[in-house]
Amino acid sequence: MRRWSKMAGKIEILSEEVINKIAAGEVVERPASIVKELVENSLDAGAKHITIEIGRGGKKLIRVIDDGSGMSKEDAELALQRHATSKIRELEDLQSIRTLGFRGEALPSIAAVANLTLLTRSEESPVGCQIKVKGNSFELLEAGSPPGTTVTIEDLFSNVPARLKFLKADSTESRQITRAVQNFALSHPQVSFELKEDGRHIIKNLPREQTLLERIASLYGTKIVEDLVPLQFENKFLRISGFITKPNLSYTNRQHQFLFVNKRAISSRLISHAIWEGYKDFLPSSRHAGVFLSMEIGPSLVDVNVHPTKKEVRFVNEPTIHTIVMQTIKQNLHKEVTMVEIEEKTTYPEGSSFRKRRIEEAMKDYLVKSQKWQGSISPEELFQPKKFHIPEPEKRIEVKKEAMVALGQLDNLYIVARSADGIVILDQHAAWERILYEQLENDYKDQKIESQRLLFPIQIELPPHNVQVLIANTDLFSKLGFEMEQFGPSSFLVKATPHI
Ligand SMILES: Nc1ncnc2c1ncn2[C@@H]1O[C@H](COP(=O)(O)OP(=O)(O)OP(=O)(O)O)[C@@H](O)[C@H]1O
Ligand SMILES: [Mg+2]
Repeated sequence: MRRWSKMAGKIEILSEEVINKIAAGEVVERPASIVKELVENSLDAGAKHITIEIGRGGKKLIRVIDDGSGMSKEDAELALQRHATSKIRELEDLQSIRTLGFRGEALPSIAAVANLTLLTRSEESPVGCQIKVKGNSFELLEAGSPPGTTVTIEDLFSNVPARLKFLKADSTESRQITRAVQNFALSHPQVSFELKEDGRHIIKNLPREQTLLERIASLYGTKIVEDLVPLQFENKFLRISGFITKPNLSYTNRQHQFLFVNKRAISSRLISHAIWEGYKDFLPSSRHAGVFLSMEIGPSLVDVNVHPTKKEVRFVNEPTIHTIVMQTIKQNLHKEVTMVEIEEKTTYPEGSSFRKRRIEEAMKDYLVKSQKWQGSISPEELFQPKKFHIPEPEKRIEVKKEAMVALGQLDNLYIVARSADGIVILDQHAAWERILYEQLENDYKDQKIESQRLLFPIQIELPPHNVQVLIANTDLFSKLGFEMEQFGPSSFLVKATPHI
């Protein structure tokens, strides 16, 4: 028989303070996580205008001002306690979450790692209230306030030096915040947003009641609109909408891909892979499209409670979601790009009407075939739990340059060569770009890049986070031979480029 030791137990229940700090570690990773939580609260409160002010990349100050429902004094006091929420009541409610928040964790977690001041008034209350939390001290006062809520966070992690050390440079933190605000601005185009850092606008008052396309144009500049294809798919339980870039506009990374599920910004390897597959016929595998993709899906078909910051979501039937996203991308791209290209851009030699008709017939046939899949997925399939395994990316095959012998040229586009391992087809335009790139890289290392002044300066418009990257790297760009001048909050004049 087992004997119990007489020693005192080793297990103790942690104090509330330690519990809160541990929970805060999961919710509050960096200043951008605070901005995310506060703006989510403002949106859940039905705000129509949200102002975000930050100081020193959010480390010194984060203030979120909204014109939402506000809180009564009793609710404001409760809001700062753990597991206090107005958004769910019972376990079953987790199955049908329609709000961005539901855990009742954000405000107490933030208050555990920074100084927090809450100023709020509901429409019905004649007077507002202010709560200040600093460490263990808690102060509540009556205070004048317009209807709505203002939350001010100061000196993040000043009481957790270990975490403070891990924060990045102010400019990096501020870029993360900009990205978070951009996510909200794109998922809620009906709400007006503005973001200011040390009094300077990073995102200027975006108007209320915009359509998604108007919002994209406000953030990315109007030029992008010409290069966008609308996305559309709808069945009983799932709706996909948004815009994707035509293949002529692509990027080297996924930075310009914005994914939303039930108006929540998410990152999802499943959806990213489906997008990549959808573009496979249109883009080289190293290029990525710009994507603004919004999914509305029955809340019981997706679990948002799988990640501490709700950044990741899990779909009940992953393979079906993957197929639908991939096919929606493919189909919408085919519809727009191929038809336009065939009708407007292609010129046929004299007397080639027969050839033209055959191409058009083949295209129609292809489009009909590529649309067939829609019938093959029943909406109910979304309810069958299934996992999707994302295949490993295909390995690139290295070809030894020395062993290549050119055999000929194809259509003035490709060089066909023989190598020790087989036949190599070289995109000569891409190869030429690579040669120039390597030349530029060497010149940069030897510090001998020459600059070439342009006869007419080129005006470029950039989205807010890219403006920040450009300003933070002004020196590097000038070493690379660019001469640029800021021309407005989001536009620059390029006056000189590297001489290549
Ligand atoms: N800006 C706001 N306007 C009105 N009410 C708010 C605001 N911010 C917070 N609240 C109230 O305070 C409660 C607690 O907020 P908190 O962010 O801590 O939790 P939550 O939003 O319910 O869940 P989560 O932890 O998932 O964010 C909310 O449920 C809401 O009732
Ligand atoms: Mg919340």
